[in-house]
Amino acid sequence: MTSRPPGKSVSETLPLNQILHGDCIELLGALPEKSVDLVFADPPYNLQLSQELYRPDQSKVDAVDDPWDRFGSFAEYDAFTRQWLAGCRRVLKDTGTIWVIGSYHNIYRVGAILQDLGFWILNDVTWIKSNPMPNFRGVRFANAHETLIWAQKNKGAKYTFNHHAMKALNDDSRENGLQMRSDWYLPLATGRERVKVNGAKAHPTQKPEALLYRVILASSKPGDVVLDPFFGSGTTGVVAKKLGRRFIGIERDKKYIRVAQKRIAAAEADSEAVKVEKPRPVRVPFGALVESGILLPGQSLYFAKNGSKAKILANGRIQCGDLSGSIHGVAKALLNGAPVNGWEVWLYEDEKGNKIAIDELRKKFSGEK
Ligand SMILES: C[S@@+](CC[C@H](N)C(=O)[O-])C[C@H]1O[C@@H](n2cnc3c(N)ncnc32)[C@H](O)[C@@H]1O
Repeated sequence: MTSRPPGKSVSETLPLNQILHGDCIELLGALPEKSVDLVFADPPYNLQLSQELYRPDQSKVDAVDDPWDRFGSFAEYDAFTRQWLAGCRRVLKDTGTIWVIGSYHNIYRVGAILQDLGFWILNDVTWIKSNPMPNFRGVRFANAHETLIWAQKNKGAKYTFNHHAMKALNDDSRENGLQMRSDWYLPLATGRERVKVNGAKAHPTQKPEALLYRVILASSKPGDVVLDPFFGSGTTGVVAKKLGRRFIGIERDKKYIRVAQKRIAAAEADSEAVKVEKPRPVRVPFGALVESGILLPGQSLYFAKNGSKAKILANGRIQCGDLSGSIHGVAKALLNGAPVNGWEVWLYEDEKGNKIAIDELRKKFSGEK
């Protein structure tokens, strides 16, 4: 465990936009605690391939049979999973979230361990592969999806979910988009996207950038620190850079680090284009409209729910019969305590006699569209 040098903030001591070479369990332990906003992890799946696979034309299938994916038993895999997930939990901020991707071989074990460690699952997302590999032997269904678990460090804590960006990404034919669902239909990384070295795949399990794009855009903000403990060919780093986030990668194989460094160096970012979250409405006190003469003391407001009339007071409060208070407080009292936004239920009368919500005046005043 590292301690922070005196006078340095946590982020100043982080190896930002770097790939650390080594074992992630060891290296996670050397990072400062509560320093990372988001983790994306694509761990070994423990595919347990016991024999080579061939296509009907007898060509060999390029399956994941690398040493880093082999474990002696489920117990060994579980112990490994518990260790790296505990390491991620320690470095995550209390507001942080983690994504883990896996297949039926490992994702149920990962999910149970996440819960045992105290993570709170927010969603499981199915990545449906639009171009999956067939089941060559024809003995099972074609395995056409992978599962991502999205979990927060602490149940009930505040966390980032860019709901508006996700809606806009999902359907731009509607003004406000369409809520993003938990089944994502995306192709595998193929063609030009697939990194090759001397004509062969540079990494056996390179994930598509589109998948990481959605993960990172949904659950982090520009400038956030995104950690990937199984960095591989660096897909997380490439997309983090393109989206104006900072990354920390951990990878134990030097040849993959070289591939990742090259990919990341070629990625470009536009710092303005990545600021896509819906701006928060500027807080305007009702009194500011009175003070600036947009509404006048003595002027009438009309309650949209039943036409009750109120008078604007010089101090930015309103009087409605015996009730006096803020636009929100008086509206709430008129609705017998039901929660209400006063800006939306009080109307003013314009010069043509139209009754319009005072929220329109607030928007003009704050420059909001
Ligand atoms: C499933 S791949 C990740 C692929 C990556 N998402 C991509 O898009 O290229 C897992 C990677 O983790 C690395 N790895 C496996 N065990 C590791 C460990 N204990 N520490 C660090 N890296 C490890 C492997 O070398 C492999 O590159």
